[in-house]
Amino acid sequence: MSQEVFEKANALATEIRTTAPSSPEEIEQFRIKFLGSKGALKGIFQEIRNVENTRKKEFGLLVNAIKQEAEQKLNTLKEQAETASESGKGDLDLTAPGEPTTLGSRHPIAIMMNEMISIFERIGFVVAEDREIEDDWHNFTAMNSPEDHPARDMQDTFYIMNDPTMLLRSHTSSVQARVMTEQKPPIRIIAPGRVYRNETISARSHCQFHQIEGLYIDENVSFADMKQTLYYFAREMFGETKIRLRPSYFPFTEPSAEMDVWMGTETEETKRLTKGTGWLEILGCGMVDPAVLENCGIDSKKYTGYAWGMGIERPAMIKYGIPDIRYFFENDIRFLQQFSSAI
Ligand code: DAH
Repeated sequence: MSQEVFEKANALATEIRTTAPSSPEEIEQFRIKFLGSKGALKGIFQEIRNVENTRKKEFGLLVNAIKQEAEQKLNTLKEQAETASESGKGDLDLTAPGEPTTLGSRHPIAIMMNEMISIFERIGFVVAEDREIEDDWHNFTAMNSPEDHPARDMQDTFYIMNDPTMLLRSHTSSVQARVMTEQKPPIRIIAPGRVYRNETISARSHCQFHQIEGLYIDENVSFADMKQTLYYFAREMFGETKIRLRPSYFPFTEPSAEMDVWMGTETEETKRLTKGTGWLEILGCGMVDPAVLENCGIDSKKYTGYAWGMGIERPAMIKYGIPDIRYFFENDIRFLQQFSSAI
């Protein structure tokens, strides 16, 4: 009988040694199973009554030793679990393959915008960004379109409800006024950003779109400087090509022009884009009207400057063959994923 009880105790010792709990829950299970008030060690202690008197002491010592070993193991396990959770590693298997993370893609407008920005940055223009909710003064008045000026009708503007002096900027030209009132010449900035107009949404136009504005103000800045800068841009953007400037009108520039880029008439695509002329209009530009400089506190006798503004959607549609401007704003994942290989 005694021998059987001794064997039971030894089997229990082996079980304690070979059990390898790791998570805090498993460690608690270990404690309950072996050391708990109804645990296996309690049970084996009670078996002492089945041990013959001469071996009771020996049995007591054995069970005590097993208990101590179990307690020590429990303490070590608890400490290990604590340091593991502190270092945040848990029972991490560092050799396991990583969790797959899906790679996002840039929005085609962002790709286009970054490309345009980098072209101008290479010749010393710096990015200036400003608010989309703008006041009437920066969007219109400072830009030489005072109240009741017919030029305001050129753009259908969204006004903020209850405050007729606030609006969603209708062009990035508002950033010109922001920069000129805050900085002294020389000023050489590009202002990319979103603009809003109350236009009927169709495949060709939207109530929100993006522009890049450019502004250069210094002493002795000439129309020829502007032409050269925009010619440089056209070649970087579209490859070897030519440009032409057609006289135009903008309230904030005098003289004003629109710039066309030569796309050719070789393909059906370029014929369609240029309505058969080979020329594609991409931007408006001109010499900053002295009235604009004065409105913004810049001495128009000392300084001259040029400015331009162009849309981003149109060149992006051409570059990526996107037939409908509305795709840009729907954020359909199937549309966006097509640009994952672009940068
Ligand atoms: N703000 C004009 C528009 O949205 C574009 C423009 C034309 C900007 C001529 C300029 C400029 O800076 O000089 O249609």
